[in-house]
Amino acid sequence: MPVIRFVREGLDVECYPGENLREVALREGIALYGLKGQLGNCGGCGQCITCFVDVVGESSPGSLSGRTAVEEQKLRRRPQSWRLACQTLVQQSVLVLTRPQVGFGDADQRIAAAKSQPLPAGPTSWPEPPAEEQDEDSETTTSDEEV
Ligand code: FES
Repeated sequence: MPVIRFVREGLDVECYPGENLREVALREGIALYGLKGQLGNCGGCGQCITCFVDVVGESSPGSLSGRTAVEEQKLRRRPQSWRLACQTLVQQSVLVLTRPQVGFGDADQRIAAAKSQPLPAGPTSWPEPPAEEQDEDSETTTSDEEV
């Protein structure tokens, strides 16, 4: 599975190939939005331009979905490595800096440290379903056979 390394938060998060970056970040409790986005965002429609992320480091081609037409328009004055999280699907492992417009003291050191740790290329494998679900299925089968 791809790993998203959130540099600012110092957190590695696994996701399914093709998952939406915004949805993964919100699910993991990552502070994706600055104040403006916290007060009001478009919910992932690509209209509010508050879910900026910077894809730091060299990611292999195809690690993320290509820029959408919305991003091409909304990010035309931003660095090429910036993306809108809500418009981005993760295919392979990447390093991401949330809220790149907000600086923090040791950003360069943290980015360098994040780059120095290898990431799995991903996708590697799909997770096995929890054992409990397998047991429920087998019980259902057993009770069906009894009837
Ligand atoms: S959530 Fe509004 S542009 Fe991404």
